[in-house]
Amino acid sequence: MSQPFAPRPLVIAPSILAADFARLGEEVRAVDQAGADWMHLDVMDGHFVPNISYGPDVIKAMRPYTKKIFDAHLMIAPCDPYLEAFAKAGCDHITVHAEAGPHLHRSLQSIRALGKKAGVSLNPATPLSAIEYVLDMVDLVLVMSVNPGFGGQAFIPAMINKVTDLRAMLAGRPIDIEVDGGVVPDVAAKLAAAGANALVAGSAVFKGGTEASYKANIDAIRNAAAMARGEMV
Ligand code: DX5
Ligand code: ZN
Repeated sequence: MSQPFAPRPLVIAPSILAADFARLGEEVRAVDQAGADWMHLDVMDGHFVPNISYGPDVIKAMRPYTKKIFDAHLMIAPCDPYLEAFAKAGCDHITVHAEAGPHLHRSLQSIRALGKKAGVSLNPATPLSAIEYVLDMVDLVLVMSVNPGFGGQAFIPAMINKVTDLRAMLAGRPIDIEVDGGVVPDVAAKLAAAGANALVAGSAVFKGGTEASYKANIDAIRNAAAMARGEMV
């Protein structure tokens, strides 16, 4: 496989949406111990997406249970009035959707002004051209590989080509390519080969319900992706 640009580090980011919400702190600690790199935090408002999850107070309550990166994925519109609350709650990355409002550049500026890494997410139907002129403002691009709102959906295969095209568009910039939705080990391998370096997985990590199963699940995703990257496992 040709590697025209140096690959960014491989990251596995369990989506806490699939955790047992009655034991959030313990679940965060368990996936940390099981080898998670980032904690992916899905915030849904019942307006931008047809589901409601949790907000900054719940994230703040989870914060003491791990030192790992809090990778917030805001599926909310508007997002601007809430960015500061998510920063104060302990999020390290704040990702907003390109479709969530008319002033994406301003939202990304605000996230960086809060001292956080700025991410932009694209729904499956949104073309890469939506972010062409904000790349200088972005630390991470999150490619949605399901329609956002729910865990446990099937991966949309056309998103492999989107990742390939995104990687070419980024042309070696220091920007993470993260993919979210329906990621299981064989999909992880295809995504890694296409150039994604950060893989979100909810149901595929939390199945089994114990720290030992979380470790086996994370290892399976990481090993599949690492092999596709030509790395030792
Ligand atoms: C969907 C969320 C995802 C979701 C992934 O709107 O953004 O992070 O939790 O769950 P799985 O891995 O089960 O598709
Ligand atoms: Zn997500």
